[in-house]
Amino acid sequence: MVNYPERLSLAQTPTPLLPLARLSKQLGGPRLWVKRDDLTGSASSGNKVRKLEFLLAEAVAQGCDTIITSGGVQSNHCRAVAVLGAQLGLKVHLLLRSDIPPEPVGNLFLDQLAGATISHYSVAQFRDLDGLFQHWVDHYQQQGRKSYSIPTGGSNGTGTWGYIAAAEELAADFAAENIDPYAVVHATGSGGTQAGLILGFYLHQVDCKVISYAVCDDEAYFAAKVSDDLTQWQSKYSPHTDLSALVPHTNAGYVGPAYGVAPPEVLDTIKYVAALEGLILDPVYTGKAFHGLIEDIKKGVFAEQHDRDIVFLHTGGIFGLFAQQQKMGY
Ligand SMILES: Cc1ncc(COP(=O)(O)O)c(C=O)c1O
Repeated sequence: MVNYPERLSLAQTPTPLLPLARLSKQLGGPRLWVKRDDLTGSASSGNKVRKLEFLLAEAVAQGCDTIITSGGVQSNHCRAVAVLGAQLGLKVHLLLRSDIPPEPVGNLFLDQLAGATISHYSVAQFRDLDGLFQHWVDHYQQQGRKSYSIPTGGSNGTGTWGYIAAAEELAADFAAENIDPYAVVHATGSGGTQAGLILGFYLHQVDCKVISYAVCDDEAYFAAKVSDDLTQWQSKYSPHTDLSALVPHTNAGYVGPAYGVAPPEVLDTIKYVAALEGLILDPVYTGKAFHGLIEDIKKGVFAEQHDRDIVFLHTGGIFGLFAQQQKMGY
């Protein structure tokens, strides 16, 4: 029995779990499924909405009227905060990272439409992100407002609850479909989805691996980040839960040139999957992870699991695709 903290009902859940029959057949197994967390909402869609159910509940419970958060200029997380903040009547201030003057497209366009206050910073300025947060926390305090800071990606002890809850939902999906998946596969960026899924399967006693394809950084970074999030969760909510057996499985072999930059083969995979299955992936997160999964299946990494089920967690990101439309060559 898992005792969840207070949460707001912001995500449209349960999201569908759907088979990818044609793709599975073309690859010759394993049987692939997709968990459609890109459908947690419309403008406020994707994996972040699950984390924000808990983070924004805490903000509201603390009487905060302003949310400060950070991310890349096309951050899906920041866009979800902008839209949900407007829904809840909270002021939202986004600290966005970019070295070039950003185009008001994709997620940034929606941030603006939702009325968020936006401060742009260079990569060098972002190195002191804590200092930037502190500056704005002090600023709002001087104005008589009470702010609540959410770290990049909503990944911390509180945000971890989003995918602990999703793991419980997945367990119900597996039972409904009568499947016993070998693994859930997903894109990892700030580590919170990864931490939540690993912890969630453990707490709900689901025997399913979590395989995380990195979209930036390396395995060591995610080992440390997931461990940090889990430690924060443990000290805040459950000091007696032994988490020593939880080990992240990160594959950083498909990061490509840089965060946000997809190599041509990832763009080809996005086109292939869209045309074959009507499943729309994005170049920053899900496209890289799905490409990694397909390549690993082709390389025989999952040969022993060819008659098992694997679930790809679609974490959203469609507005990032629109921001890179020209790169798709249409
Ligand atoms: C579409 C999408 N997929 C995956 C991720 C990665 O999730 P996390 O930051 O929890 O690792 C993010 C956010 O960073 C995202 O926006």
